[in-house]
Amino acid sequence: MSTQFEIQGLKSSIEGKEILKGIDLKIKGGEVHAIMGPNGTGKSTLASALMGHPKYEVTDGSVTLNGEDVLDMGVDERARAGLFLAMQYPSEITGVTNADFLRSAINARRGEGNEISLIKFVRQMEGKMKELEMNPEFMHRYLNEGFSGGEKKRNEILQMLLLEPKLVILDEIDSGLDIDALRIVAEGVNAMRSEDRGFLIITHYQRLLNYITPDFVHVMMQGRIVKSGGPELATRLEAEGYDWVKEELGIVDETVGQA
Ligand SMILES: Nc1ncnc2c1ncn2[C@@H]1O[C@H](COP(=O)(O)OP(=O)(O)OP(=O)(O)O)[C@@H](O)[C@H]1O
Ligand SMILES: [Mg+2]
Repeated sequence: MSTQFEIQGLKSSIEGKEILKGIDLKIKGGEVHAIMGPNGTGKSTLASALMGHPKYEVTDGSVTLNGEDVLDMGVDERARAGLFLAMQYPSEITGVTNADFLRSAINARRGEGNEISLIKFVRQMEGKMKELEMNPEFMHRYLNEGFSGGEKKRNEILQMLLLEPKLVILDEIDSGLDIDALRIVAEGVNAMRSEDRGFLIITHYQRLLNYITPDFVHVMMQGRIVKSGGPELATRLEAEGYDWVKEELGIVDETVGQA
């Protein structure tokens, strides 16, 4: 069955301050949606709210994945249902090895009674790490501890490959990646494109979208999607910046503090 992910009128606040002011977005399986937008306009907040981060209170709207109410689910349940977020700033967890973390995450996704065998897990992990040209030593390092910026991002993609999510959110996956790593990560994403998987890719630069061609590009300002188009929208933004969008829409200050 093809995946359907739908966000309707989503509003979210942090400590009483409204950041997301009504987001509507529909992502079908096989589609790649890119979200661009100036700093501080709510892009990461959208990612966090969708994953159920406790700091981000949802005050209105609905989110469904294949008809199931996502907002009703806890963080674990969302991951289990197939939501995946590669964070803009992945957390370091001392004392938990990458392998341990990944295995628990995979088992949480698979559900009780359906755990992956150790041998199969190691084989899969080794295979995917090879695809991503990661040094096998990363398996036994503590999660993200002392990882370089680019190593963290590659490790997020490793998680994505192993978890086989239904809806993938990548928040600035390209930041910190060297030129070769960007290509490797993009290849990993492209290899995952399929009818039962949708992508929401937050990025500042068209460069990533040269490798991962989006079906739709959205611009976020003031906690809303203010403009949508195809890949050509990203090209224009790269060339001209955001002023023309603001002028066209009569937006003076694009940050969420306003309007
Ligand atoms: N936990 C928080 N506490 C206070 N303010 C927050 C918190 N999280 C987000 N904000 C505020 O919400 C606004 C939107 O932040 P968000 O991280 O969503 O922006 P962004 O669009 O991802 O920006 P960038 O492109 O710089 O990553 C910012 O003004 C930010 O300071
Ligand atoms: Mg952000």
